[in-house]
Amino acid sequence: MRVDKTRKPLLDVLRGEVPERLPIWLMRQAGRYLPEYRDLRAKSKNFLNMCLTPALATEITMQPIRRFGMDGAILFADILLIPMALGLSLDFREGEGPVLQRVASRDDLMGLTYNPDKVLPVFETVRRVKNTMPEKTALIGFCGAPWTVACYMIDGNSKNDFTAAKEWVREKPQDLDALIAILIDASEKYLSAQIEAGAEAVQIFDSWAGLISGDDFTRFIIGPTRELVSRIKKNYPDIPIIGFPREAGDDYEPYIRQTGVDALSIDTKVDIQWAKRQLQPVKPLQGNLDPDLLVRGGEDMKNAARHIISTLGPRHIFNLGHGVVPQTPPEHVAELVSIIRNFSA
Ligand code: CP3
Repeated sequence: MRVDKTRKPLLDVLRGEVPERLPIWLMRQAGRYLPEYRDLRAKSKNFLNMCLTPALATEITMQPIRRFGMDGAILFADILLIPMALGLSLDFREGEGPVLQRVASRDDLMGLTYNPDKVLPVFETVRRVKNTMPEKTALIGFCGAPWTVACYMIDGNSKNDFTAAKEWVREKPQDLDALIAILIDASEKYLSAQIEAGAEAVQIFDSWAGLISGDDFTRFIIGPTRELVSRIKKNYPDIPIIGFPREAGDDYEPYIRQTGVDALSIDTKVDIQWAKRQLQPVKPLQGNLDPDLLVRGGEDMKNAARHIISTLGPRHIFNLGHGVVPQTPPEHVAELVSIIRNFSA
């Protein structure tokens, strides 16, 4: 029996230990499906302003913690703050998603210089959240993976399936290497500052990992992720790193074996039995529940959740295969948390 009451279940799993209860948090657990988020959103100038105002970002980070008692609090920010700190203009338009100033050529890379002052409020948010969190909740920092952030920098938005980014892969791979090198440097500084401010684990979101495979996956995803992970590990060996190469398919296996991440988040398409056999023996897993089932709720959601829990057992982190969508009824999230808590008990 564990006597240390201050242990955090999420960190225990990430360190390969048996947690006192199965930890749960959800990607995009702070967001438009919560009425209290929509209230603040309506009063704020824009999304970016919310990310860069510590009082607001702290409040939004804490909303799902207060409401559901999640085991992880994910910092409220965005993966596109790094390109912004590199000097690109960024705008989140209502109903349109993000629009980022594009880099068109190698010459444009020369002008990119990481200015930490532009993201200083993010680190203040981390400090504030750390001071107000329940003692069993772990604070998760994050950044986008170099590949995914490069996709947005090259295409500006996701409307054209990252046609331009894929063109760089085929026609200008050395320019892409150069852009990714800039992003590794910036991401190292950005994550290090989050850790210095109090982040207890970090997640690397590679939302568009599924766009490339084979040698391209090795060159633009595994290599850069391994480099970023090893730099963070050198200075912060005790901070666990979760990798999320969404829709990487067969490439999940080389990713988990070669990047040095401490845990792997798996998307909805990953077959859970395959994950149990091929991935779980390598590192702890997180994820997989279909966000649409959280919208639907009821027996379908319950059965799917129980299936994941009984397959992966107590040493995993319960999460979705991607983020909570705006149509999700908050009551379904509450119900999901209660299923997880009952399973643990
Ligand atoms: O609860 C959380 O997960 C907290 C913070 C968080 C946000 N974005 C807030 C956000 C995190 C971890 C992210 C990561 C992020 N941002 C990713 C990787 C994960 C993923 O979803 O694949 C990506 C690709 C982005 C870029 C981004 N930001 C997009 C494509 C969009 C538009 C889509 C949308 O849902 O509107 C955003 C906006 C955004 N980031 C919102 C939130 C809560 C919605 C903003 C709003 O209109 O209120």
